[in-house]
Amino acid sequence: MHSFLELSKLFEEKFNVRHFPGHTETLYDPAQYILGIGGKRIRPVCVLLANELFDEITADAYHAATAIELFHNFSLIHDDIMDKAPVRRGMQTVHMKYGESTALLAGDVMFVKAYENLNKIQPFNLQKVLQLFNITAAQVCEGQQLDMDFEKRDTVSFEEYVKMITLKTSVLVAASLQLGAILGGSGEGNQKHLYEFGKNLGIAFQVQDDYLDAFGDPDKFGKQIGGDILANKKTFLLIHALEVATAEDKAALLQLMIDNPADKVEKVLAIFKKCKVDEWAKQLQENYFQTALQHLEDTAVLSARKKPLMELAQYLMVRES
Ligand code: IPE
Ligand code: IPE
Ligand code: MG
Ligand code: MG
Ligand code: MG
Repeated sequence: MHSFLELSKLFEEKFNVRHFPGHTETLYDPAQYILGIGGKRIRPVCVLLANELFDEITADAYHAATAIELFHNFSLIHDDIMDKAPVRRGMQTVHMKYGESTALLAGDVMFVKAYENLNKIQPFNLQKVLQLFNITAAQVCEGQQLDMDFEKRDTVSFEEYVKMITLKTSVLVAASLQLGAILGGSGEGNQKHLYEFGKNLGIAFQVQDDYLDAFGDPDKFGKQIGGDILANKKTFLLIHALEVATAEDKAALLQLMIDNPADKVEKVLAIFKKCKVDEWAKQLQENYFQTALQHLEDTAVLSARKKPLMELAQYLMVRES
């Protein structure tokens, strides 16, 4: 059995190769660029961790893990276009470096590469794997559309926010775990618990992402601080602030979203702090974290085997990048 850190290293070693042909460099170099500038590789490691809960890690688990990381990076390239993000993983985003059209195509070809890797999986499991992968990929698109729809609205309910982040982020973490379990020969009960573990962990993960986008350390986060505020993203920070702020601060927040002044980030952050959104964030995260842990506990596998998944879950709650 491997620890979370050992598996991260193992995956990185295998993944750290050129995934694209040498020709048409103007397309493939940009695609390779984002894969080479880091990333925590959480989702592929989830595939491997769940796989190893049941047996030795299989070759098919590596194919699925590779496909998941390629899909994730495809979604990031397109997400950065949608979010007008200048920086990712501490480096220029693909569309800023190579232009939007190339970034779209680099994302598209990465999606194709993901399926090429899935296609290496033994026929016995392939149908189940593809079904889960396809549903999940469509859900991510739905979540991304909701995320953008919400930018244009004044208010969004907390329930709508949770639905949106479940779709855009947490189902991919959940599916990664379930894929690992399927390929490890797990029964359906355990698959379901691991999916729910990942879903709740993924929600807590996006809560942390939204928190860091406002309050993260610019040297560690690797993305533009305040990007969500600039884009009028309806994160829980804003939703909660609009709920608890004084009438005056609430009006100021709504006006800032319309006016977009040069000091918008600073002003919004000041109201967020007044509303103690950071304390609320911790509580919110903790609730989803506990629900996640319950599902891990309910997974019918020897507790000792679950330790690496616990390590991963704990790391995700305190991550700074
Ligand atoms: C970023 O995911 C996109 C979100 C769903 C928040 P990660 O924080 O896992 O990004 P990398 O791959 O480690 O850069
Ligand atoms: C992105 O959410 C989720 C997907 C890429 C599908 P965010 O827009 O918050 O991710 P970051 O912060 O840019 O990594
Ligand atoms: Mg983004
Ligand atoms: Mg986004
Ligand atoms: Mg974000």
